[in-house]
Amino acid sequence: MARTIAIANQKGGVGKTTTAINLAASLAANDATVLLIDIDPQGNSTTGLGVKKDNLPGTTYDVLVSALPATACVVPTQLPGLSLLPADRNLVAANLDLVDADDRHNRLRTQIADVNSNYDYILIDCPPALDLLTLNALCAADTVLIPIQCEFFALEGVSQLMDTIERVQESFDHPLAIEGILLTMFDDRTNLTRQVADDLKAFFKDDVLNTVIPRSVRLAEAPSHGQPILLYDVRSKGAESYIKLAKELLAKHRAAAAHAAS
Ligand SMILES: Nc1ncnc2c1ncn2[C@@H]1O[C@H](COP(=O)(O)OP(=O)(O)OP(=O)(O)O)[C@@H](O)[C@H]1O
Ligand SMILES: [Mg+2]
Repeated sequence: MARTIAIANQKGGVGKTTTAINLAASLAANDATVLLIDIDPQGNSTTGLGVKKDNLPGTTYDVLVSALPATACVVPTQLPGLSLLPADRNLVAANLDLVDADDRHNRLRTQIADVNSNYDYILIDCPPALDLLTLNALCAADTVLIPIQCEFFALEGVSQLMDTIERVQESFDHPLAIEGILLTMFDDRTNLTRQVADDLKAFFKDDVLNTVIPRSVRLAEAPSHGQPILLYDVRSKGAESYIKLAKELLAKHRAAAAHAAS
C-alpha cells in the first residue's frame, strides 16, 4: 500500500509544487516507486516535469469527473520510478461539475484505490485554495505536508487549513495526520526568516520537519527546463535539501513501520 501525502497550503506561491516535484523525484532516486498527482488546474507539476499537455491520454479531471481509470491516465516521466497523473486547465471545472455528486469529496480516494498497491508513495500537489479539489486530496491522503514560506504573513490562513484538516478528520471520519511543516525559501541570513522559523516551531512544535529548503535560484529555474532539480543541477543546495527531506521522511516511515511490527 502506498503512503499518500497531500501537499497543501491554500496560500499561493509557498513552494507546494516545487516540493511535490522535487520530493517525488528524490523519493524515486531512493528507489521508491512514486506517483505524483497534479490536482491543480494550473498544472504546474505537469509542466515542471516536462510533460506536454497536448495529446495526454487523460488527466486528473477525467479521473475525477468522467471516472476514467487512473491507470489509463498515468504517464511516465524522465525519471525512472516516477509517474505522473497530469492536470490541465479543464480541471477548474471539476469544482462545479462535482457539486451535486454525493461522493464529491471522496472521488479521488475511490478512483485511485486500484493503483494504490503499485506505488510506495503517492504525492498530491494541491491548488492554492481550500476548494473541492484540495478536499479530495485531503480525503485521499494518509497525511498532509504543509510547506510554509518563511515570511511575515507565514501563519496567515494556516488556522483555516487546520480547521479544514479537522473537518476531514471529524465530519468525514478520515484519520488524516500531519506529515510535517516544511519551511521553504529559507534564508538564515535574515532576522525575519529566523524570527518566523522560531514562531513556527513555537506553534507547531515537533511537527516542524528538521530539513529546511533554502531559497535557491536553481530550484526556481528547474521547472522552466521541465526537470526536477535532481536532473537540472544535482549538486545545487536545492537538490541537496530535497534529497535530505526524502531521507528524513523515509527514515521516519521506516521507524514507524518497525515500531508497528514490534
Ligand atoms: N526554495 C526556493 N527557492 C527559490 N525559489 C523558489 C523556491 N521554492 C519555490 N520557488 C519559486 O517560487 C514560486 C512559487 O513556488 P511554487 O510554484 O512551488 O509554489 P506553489 O505553492 O505551488 O504555488 P501555487 O500556490 O501557485 O500553486 C515559483 O516561481 C518557484 O520556482
Ligand atoms: Mg503550485
